[in-house]
Amino acid sequence: MNNIDPKERFETIVSLLKRRGFVYQSSEIYGGLSGIYDYGHYGTLLLNNIKSAWTKSMAQEREDVVLLDSAIFMHPTTWKASGHVDGFDDPQIDCRKCKARFRADHVLEEFGINADKQSIEWINTELDKLRADKKLVCPNCKSADLTPAKRFSLMVKSNLGSPVDTLSEENVVYLRPETCGGIYLQYKNTVDSLHPKLPFGIAQVGKAFRNEIVAKQFVFRTREFEQMEMQYFFNPKTDGGNATKNIYEEWHQYRWAFYLNYGIPESRLNWFKHEKLAHYATDAYDIEYNYAMLGGFKELEGVHARGNWDLSQHSKFSGCDLSYFDEESKERFIPHIVETSVGVARTMLAFIDNAYTEEIVGDPTSLVSSDGARDTRVVLKIDKRLAPVKIAILPLSKKDELTNVSKEIFKKLSKKYFVEHDITQSIGKRYRRQDEIGTPYCVTIDFDSLEDKSVTVRDRDTMKQERIAIDKLAEYFDLQFA
Ligand code: GAP
Repeated sequence: MNNIDPKERFETIVSLLKRRGFVYQSSEIYGGLSGIYDYGHYGTLLLNNIKSAWTKSMAQEREDVVLLDSAIFMHPTTWKASGHVDGFDDPQIDCRKCKARFRADHVLEEFGINADKQSIEWINTELDKLRADKKLVCPNCKSADLTPAKRFSLMVKSNLGSPVDTLSEENVVYLRPETCGGIYLQYKNTVDSLHPKLPFGIAQVGKAFRNEIVAKQFVFRTREFEQMEMQYFFNPKTDGGNATKNIYEEWHQYRWAFYLNYGIPESRLNWFKHEKLAHYATDAYDIEYNYAMLGGFKELEGVHARGNWDLSQHSKFSGCDLSYFDEESKERFIPHIVETSVGVARTMLAFIDNAYTEEIVGDPTSLVSSDGARDTRVVLKIDKRLAPVKIAILPLSKKDELTNVSKEIFKKLSKKYFVEHDITQSIGKRYRRQDEIGTPYCVTIDFDSLEDKSVTVRDRDTMKQERIAIDKLAEYFDLQFA
């Protein structure tokens, strides 16, 4: 059942995420806003757990990384210095017949041509070759009437302190296209206030905005999204001149291990080396996840060596000296940077895809079992630490005798865990609902509970049940979630 057609699997997962209150189309009652999504109750919990897991791994468990929460709006010169105003764009191609819009590099990819970071001239030469061979047609309506490729800026503009109708080059501000800009601009304040010694990192989680040409892959590529980024500052001359190589390698392993630790098997991950580098990068690898439902391995996270380009540029454009003085070597230099950067929603999609399981339970010949639940069990086998709801408390009857007990259990466990108290529908349907949202444990309270002061705990993955004394429940769950 887990070998269903990737397209069907994609539609099933998207539909589950809406039906169960994880992800909604933004502004749906007005017809929606393309490439923008909202997160419902369970989606919000899941995203929060992913961000907490990342922060724990990247800052709490590291002596050498501190946190930052910088603003979305930054001085417009930031994006001049970083090269975004003049060069953060994608190649766009339009179909004159059906008016559909595509990324020219993605069109070329369909022909096995890698156009990553290539110039617009190079892309148009490749498109012309395909045109001459009569191979270039619109992926949507198959018309051959496609425009040449042109550059499309991904920067999202806004106004601050001036009316929107006077928006001009002088008063435009940008919504940040990546969160690392805030880290570079607060590098000096961080050094001056926290006095970290090199090497050290600054990590932050926050929103970023990109005017993506095509945003049709659900939450994989959106126009508003959250990033989790860390910039690690170091002196390249240390470690016998091998600091860049060694630090870069350490972060490769550290980030790879993060995904394994949260249940992604190595077979679904891949390293992709960028042959053609962005202007700031000295080396660039991506961790790819096999998003089979979106067509195969795709970028999940970037781990990039950025040299000293960022701090040099911001020193130059701001006039503020961002060099570091090493007390021991008495040396002054601009620190080099290794960056790790990943989208929160992309991480969520990988975890959900990896966890989504369909299992035949009970009698496989009947479609509906006696309790009304379907015999195909859909279960999100997501890591317990990431699961939106940790425990569901399900009294077998709505009678006060049982709900008085279940409410007490809820009150106690909810002080520590996100717990749900559900008294509606048959127990089978309630189990299925909790399986679909990935709740690791269900606690049922029955009439025997009144006598033996115990409840039944059901494990999401094995469906095994065990009887636990009510006064030992908190201790039991502390062990399960340790
Ligand atoms: N600071 C470097 C940087 O932003 P990037 O490769 O453009 O590099 C880093 O983005 C990560 O951010 C990607 O690996 C991806 O996980 C996420 N990301 C980028 N664009 C995105 C989009 N439009 N929607 C969702 N996530 C996106």
